[in-house]
Amino acid sequence: MTAPKKLYVKTYGCQMNVYDSERMAEALGEQGYEPTNTLDDADMILLNTCHIREKAAEKVYSELGRFKGLKAAKPDLKLGVAGCVAQAEGAEIMRRQPLVDLVVGPQSYHRLPEMETKTRQGEKALDTDFPEEDKFEHLKSRPKARRAPAAFLTVQEGCDKFCAFCVVPYTRGAEVSRPVDRILTEARDLVERGVREITLLGQNVNAYHGMGEGGSWSLAKLIWALNDIDGLERIRFTTSHPNDMGDDLIEAHGTCEKLMPYLHLPVQSGSDHILKRMNRKHTAESYLRLIERIRAARPDILLSGDFIVGFPEESDADFEATMALVEEVEYGYAYSFKYSKRPGTPAAERPQVDPDVADERLQRLQALITRQQRKIQDEMVGRTVKVLFEKPGKYEGQMVGKSDYLHAVHVADAQVSVGDIAPVRIISSGSNSLAGELI
Ligand code: 5AD
Ligand code: SF4
Repeated sequence: MTAPKKLYVKTYGCQMNVYDSERMAEALGEQGYEPTNTLDDADMILLNTCHIREKAAEKVYSELGRFKGLKAAKPDLKLGVAGCVAQAEGAEIMRRQPLVDLVVGPQSYHRLPEMETKTRQGEKALDTDFPEEDKFEHLKSRPKARRAPAAFLTVQEGCDKFCAFCVVPYTRGAEVSRPVDRILTEARDLVERGVREITLLGQNVNAYHGMGEGGSWSLAKLIWALNDIDGLERIRFTTSHPNDMGDDLIEAHGTCEKLMPYLHLPVQSGSDHILKRMNRKHTAESYLRLIERIRAARPDILLSGDFIVGFPEESDADFEATMALVEEVEYGYAYSFKYSKRPGTPAAERPQVDPDVADERLQRLQALITRQQRKIQDEMVGRTVKVLFEKPGKYEGQMVGKSDYLHAVHVADAQVSVGDIAPVRIISSGSNSLAGELI
């Protein structure tokens, strides 16, 4: 028997890429690859890339350049680019960086085994199609390998919303939902392998409308079905669009016991003028009313959001409206980005905001968000939360995990195992995590 080949995967960007990287590693497992964390051991290096902002895309090219030496030392080493940069740039990647052997878009990962064979024959392999078949159906899991207690499960991909700044509808394609039975089968399989928390993933996850018994199912209906799986203890989902928060989903936050009190609901801006120019199809007011309804259903829910500052035409008053919205909502987490011009998107053609002005706004917004995050975290001190323990900590006897609200919690001298869920009293709040004791 020949020694297994080694695969090194580097993942950029969102959680969907993390999920896809696992599936790609499994697909290449069929070709005799085993994962490695050591670059020097690799027979194939795969970069799973992100195209959402310019910086993310540029990083890929500089990273590729760094493999020149490795490839010279090991001519059999294959270099692959997957993900949204692969989809957006296609063959251009091989032109700009001839070291690259393989370029595969997010909808073609099930074709990786044949593509790998092609590269072993000394050819280049390129696939950025949007095939009809379900890639996940063809990406078979390895038999019953143990999994970490918290896992991702992609239920929906792509987006039809066409926000004026965003490349997702172009790189991930139209919105597609996976059928209910395949999701439930995958969820049961994960639970058998030790998973206790599942985060349902989709670029527009709450627009989920997969086929199930009796017709098309909403995300809430899917969550209720997952709620019935014994051994599964926690359900989360991300990322949602405000306009797709159905009544049944809001209600589930109040009544579905395994659905965690955390919701990522990006608004992007607090100015109606900018929201209109962003093609978001909601207003600041409608977003705030929505938050009110969600909080009425689940008063302790922790909210998180995404913001873009310096979107074309954003005035000082527009930016102040964003600050006011953040003040009103009080986020437990929030991610803010400086607008990044993406080729092919409508906003790229419009008059841009002065980069220094955008920088200053970003700093102010981030300072506000950090204050809010810290306040909500500090308020956890003295409370008892349930923690799912995920791994040993830095110190002897320490274990770390996540609370219901997704805060990282570490416990010293913890008599628990990975995968346990236990009540923890929070004793202090640090910059990025909480410390607690078992009770
Ligand atoms: N520039 C800056 N931020 C962007 N995002 C998406 N596209 C861009 C862009 N062109 C942000 C949005 C989105 C998050 C995933 O990334 O806030 O919600
Ligand atoms: Fe991009 Fe989200 Fe808008 Fe879709 S809804 S275009 S993924 S920002």
